Amino acid sequence: MATEIKNVEYGLEKIFEGAQDFLPLLGTDYVEFYVGNAKQAAHFYKTAFGFQSFAYKGLETGCRDYASYVIAQDKIRIVLTTPLNSKSPINAHLAKHGDAVKVIALWVEDATKSFEETVKRGAKPFMEPTVEKDEHGEVVRSGIYTYGETVHIFVERKNYKGLFLPGYTAWKSDYNPAPTGLKFIDHMVGNVGWGEMNQWVKWYEDVMGFVNFLSFDDKQITTEYSALMSKVMSNGNGRIKFPINEPAKGKKKSQIEEYIDFYESAGVQHIAIATDDIIKTVMELRARGVEFLSAPPHAYYEEIPKRLGKHMEMMHEDMTVIEKLAILVDADEDGYLLQIFTKPLEDRPTLFFEIIQRMGAKGFGAGNFKALFESIEREQEKRGTL
Ligand code: FE2
Repeated sequence: MATEIKNVEYGLEKIFEGAQDFLPLLGTDYVEFYVGNAKQAAHFYKTAFGFQSFAYKGLETGCRDYASYVIAQDKIRIVLTTPLNSKSPINAHLAKHGDAVKVIALWVEDATKSFEETVKRGAKPFMEPTVEKDEHGEVVRSGIYTYGETVHIFVERKNYKGLFLPGYTAWKSDYNPAPTGLKFIDHMVGNVGWGEMNQWVKWYEDVMGFVNFLSFDDKQITTEYSALMSKVMSNGNGRIKFPINEPAKGKKKSQIEEYIDFYESAGVQHIAIATDDIIKTVMELRARGVEFLSAPPHAYYEEIPKRLGKHMEMMHEDMTVIEKLAILVDADEDGYLLQIFTKPLEDRPTLFFEIIQRMGAKGFGAGNFKALFESIEREQEKRGTL
């Protein structure tokens, strides 16, 4: 929790001063996945990651076209939506992309103004401002397209006292696996096609008032075989961070190109989720069958004291446990961070989760990029896509 507050303070005072305040974002509201079978997906995310049954919408609540299961853990809310007939437009999204993140919903004070300001600045509309009501009050939502077929929905809920959104009922289940310590979404990464990164950086600057506060070129993010480029965008208060990746030329195929090939457009590559105790969280996730990328060689762990430098003395985690769990460690001038990446969460090598614990560090694990990508390449090799 302390980590999150520190991030926000840092954002307000320092690096994000160039950000515009025409679109104040209060936080991530929810993330919506379009999936082939929401009932089964909800069971997976509850069992494997410890999400809790939260809200539901479907035939039983009078929704004839689709079913949505909302699962929650601490501040994270994920909506899993599936079509109930062949006429639903969700089918086309599923056929093209597979199970995927469709919506990154952002919590705002004023969804109408958010829509008007962003559309005025060039956003393509997805949903006009719409008022939804029930006995608990009203919610206003509006939406715009971002990269690929992904959308941002603005959620204004200041006049709503209900559980989630109008139309949803509480989802009570007799099956309630314990949470695994997942707290909030730290950042969400988008993969875009060749030559498109700067165009989307500009879009987030012009349309959303974000700033680009970190950049990595293909010389920093490279292995013997493949490369990529990345720029990190943040909103003014630092609560919303969207790194954007683009493939770069290497001897073999970039993991970003592999993603684009299988996703068939730009889209969300990974969701990074914060924990206060990564060792406990990862041990629990592994016990529940979550698969992570393999550990880097032992030499990587021997170099950690060098990489951490002055932050080494504040590191209290047991290094043998860190290595056994294949957790990666990096540092920047403000502190260190611990992170680990799951294998893709579905059959297409597209969406995955990152689990991250920040111990003061504000970065994204640049010192781990090489080890991480070599690990991804070992998986690409198996898939025949390197
Ligand atoms: Fe990340």
